[in-house]
Amino acid sequence: MSQDLKNSFQTIFDTSGSPRTFFAPGRVNLIGEHTDYNGGHVFPCALSIGTYALAEEREDRKFRMYSLNFENKGVIEFSLDDLSYEEAHDWANYPKGVIKEFADRGISIKKGMNVLFYGNIPNGAGLSSSASIELASAVLVNAFTNADLPMIEMVKLSQHAENEYIGVKSGIMDQFAIGMGKDQAAVLLNCQTLEYQYSPLELPYSVIVIANTNKRRTLADSKYNERREECERALKQLQSELSIEYLGDLSEEAFLQHQHLITNETDRKRARHAVLENQRTIKAVQLLRAGDMEGFGKLMNESHISLRDDYEVTGEELDAMAEAAWNEEGVIGSRMTGAGFGGCTVSIVKKSAVPSFLENVKKQYKKKTALEPEFYVVEVGSGARELTDDMEEL
Ligand code: GLA
Repeated sequence: MSQDLKNSFQTIFDTSGSPRTFFAPGRVNLIGEHTDYNGGHVFPCALSIGTYALAEEREDRKFRMYSLNFENKGVIEFSLDDLSYEEAHDWANYPKGVIKEFADRGISIKKGMNVLFYGNIPNGAGLSSSASIELASAVLVNAFTNADLPMIEMVKLSQHAENEYIGVKSGIMDQFAIGMGKDQAAVLLNCQTLEYQYSPLELPYSVIVIANTNKRRTLADSKYNERREECERALKQLQSELSIEYLGDLSEEAFLQHQHLITNETDRKRARHAVLENQRTIKAVQLLRAGDMEGFGKLMNESHISLRDDYEVTGEELDAMAEAAWNEEGVIGSRMTGAGFGGCTVSIVKKSAVPSFLENVKKQYKKKTALEPEFYVVEVGSGARELTDDMEEL
């Protein structure tokens, strides 16, 4: 594949140059959903699938970009002298927003570039293909400008691009997992302080299976922003008696004692999810570290139920997929992952049960929804980086 991508690069940009290759993974969150912007904990890992970016500098100030995933959009061109958002630039607004972040920080980008993107994460499935493009772009610009920014800065600037340039008010989980992910480990991140700990994912007898509902995530961005507002309203009312900065600051007991302060019932349910999911995440990681996989799996299931009943971000398809998994022998835990409103579930499945899982979950899901699902048995990989030995890695 490495040679194929290089050939495509040379053909598309009509160059004989040899590009440098960069990679940023996708991510899957094992537990801790909709907690990041509530100052709570998340527990994601980076995947071995992701986005490749091949790049070479040009002699002028033009950026010319092409994605093998959006070939119908052709080569998208812009200049370093105008990095403003443009609807017509479609997917290229993600790298463009990141380039602008570097420029806004006073990092001098002297030359334009030809950049070819190729991603093997399914788009729009909730595995963070957009944060993956952002981080691939960040490591690329960092390398060519010799800016030497630490990874955590690139994580923050990518989130800033997503929030301000793209206009999706996401938390920091996706960019963090993709930037800071580590092979064979998930990362427990406190999204308030950005303190983090890697936790080895030693799963000798089981695997992580991602199931794509193939339900289009309609209205996902507006509903996402709506959930944020509901949590903010609930927090404000709690703050009338409690000195807390985020919902993530509350223990379950403190929440139960003060929940009456939240006058709107929907807001109260949203806040209950945010508080309990945070506590659940901390507990789940403790269980995993103690080798209690069954306990970890049970909390994954409870997480889904809370996202279904209190946060209301699952919907018929994700519920059908999770329920089908719960009915299967050899499933340790299963839940929706990412923002919800369609997208994927993540399940931990005993290796010996994988063939029957794939067959039966597919059958049950199709029967309920009439949609064709897709399954990926995934591997945990490392964070965004330049591939120096790309022949081996591609
Ligand atoms: C999306 C956002 C994340 C996080 C999740 C829900 O993936 O980008 O910041 O809020 O939803 O946990």
